[in-house]
This record gives sequence, C-alpha cells and structure tokens, in this order.
Amino acid sequence: MDFPGRGWHDLGVKSSLLTADLRERLLCVMDQKNHWAYPELTRPGLSRGQLAAHFSHEYAVYVRDFPTLLARALGIVPDVPDVRRSLAENIYEEQTGGLSRSGPHPELFMVMMEGLGFAREEIDLPDARLHPAALSYRDWLRESACEKPWQAAVALLTIWVEGSVNERAELEGRFVRPRGEDAVVKHPLVVHYGCPPSAMRLTRAHGDVEGSHRGDAWRMVLGHVDDEATARACVETCQQGLARWHRYRDGVAERMGLSRDRAA
Ligand SMILES: [Fe+2]
Repeated sequence: MDFPGRGWHDLGVKSSLLTADLRERLLCVMDQKNHWAYPELTRPGLSRGQLAAHFSHEYAVYVRDFPTLLARALGIVPDVPDVRRSLAENIYEEQTGGLSRSGPHPELFMVMMEGLGFAREEIDLPDARLHPAALSYRDWLRESACEKPWQAAVALLTIWVEGSVNERAELEGRFVRPRGEDAVVKHPLVVHYGCPPSAMRLTRAHGDVEGSHRGDAWRMVLGHVDDEATARACVETCQQGLARWHRYRDGVAERMGLSRDRAA
C-alpha cells in the first residue's frame, strides 16, 4: 500500500476522541525531531572526519541493530495478528531487503559509506569510541523496545525512531518524500560529497517501502490503544526518546566540532 498523499482518514483506524488526541500528542513530539546541527548535514563543507563521526554514531545507535530492536518489540506483542504481521514485514525488509528486492538495510548503509570512500572499520566503531550520550540512547532503546505496554514499544520504534519531523505533513498528505532516482540524485551525499548514485541503494529501498511502513506504524499504535494509561505510556516513551535523542545529537555535534552559534 502506498501511504504518501493519503490523509489520516485513510489509515483505516476508527477515530475516537482518544485516538485523535493520541495522534496529536505524538505528532507534537515528532514536530520536535529537529536538531540545530541538522542543516549542516545537508550542506557542503563537512570534512571526512566530520562525516565519519556522524555516520559511525548513526550506525552504532540504531542502523546496525534496528531489525533486532523490532524483533524485541514483536516478542512482547500479544495475539494481535495485524500488528505481529506488520512488525514481521518490517523486520523482514530491514534484515533482508526482501520486499524492496534490495538487501539488508544495515548492509546497504555500509555500501553507501563505501561510496563515500570510507572503509568499514572507519564506520563500525567499538563502543569505547562512541559518545557516552550515544551509548546511553542506544541502551535505552534496547531496553524500551521490549518494555510494556507493547503499544509504547511499537510507537517508540516505528513512529519515533523510523519517523521524521515531516510526520504531520506526510500524514496530512502535504508532504511526499522523494522516491526512486529523484531521491537519489537530490541526496546531499550525492550532490555535495561525491557518493555515486549506484551506492545509494538504501535510499531507493526506503523510497520503495517506507511509505507503507509509515502507515503501518500509525495504524499499529492508533488502532490498538483503548485507554488513557496506554496512550500516556506511548506519548511519555516517545517524549523520553526525544529528550535522549537531543542529548545524543548534541554529543555527535560535539564530536563533529560543530558549534550552535555558527549553525544559528
Ligand atoms: Fe531501513
């Protein structure tokens, strides 16, 4: 199913005051998934060392192990077949690339790094070389991925981690993420850093499947929260994710030698 361009009413979730309110509270968290150093990442001018600092942390914190984080969440989902199926599909795509006929997403990430001229060992770093805030965010993700209620764990991984600041616009059909070759040729790593388009298979794979994953994410959570306590757990878990993610991104910016004043 194609999600971009479809609005909230097309999610197929029976809307109630509780789900409308939960959707809004989660979107308020997603609206803040923006970091002051982000513009630097889409502009030319970063050194090799700065790029390596950014990508090695992304790899270690959630790219390499994302399929297993999803598997942790699947392990605590009770007999709710549509949720189990959506998570299983997501795990299958992330660990094998089977749906997009590409490859395991962590491996496609490494192909992109090699396209930038990095050796694997420059990106796959031992924990001792990672910023403490990155390790703390990663460890918290691991723990929270299998913490009850399952709806909060699923919201954390599929809405917070996989989602972006564009979530609201995407849900309302006002934003359609670039896909296919369009997404590849416009990608900052291709435009500014000389990554060959052939190494951007991860971007192609995400364009192919991520649309339906976004819809699945919201359906899994909004379609299965029936009480305020569970709704609150979903929102509070994502809010914690936001706070920890900001500390993590501040840590990476520090390692990259970026200053907030300059970015502003
Ligand atoms: Fe992915």
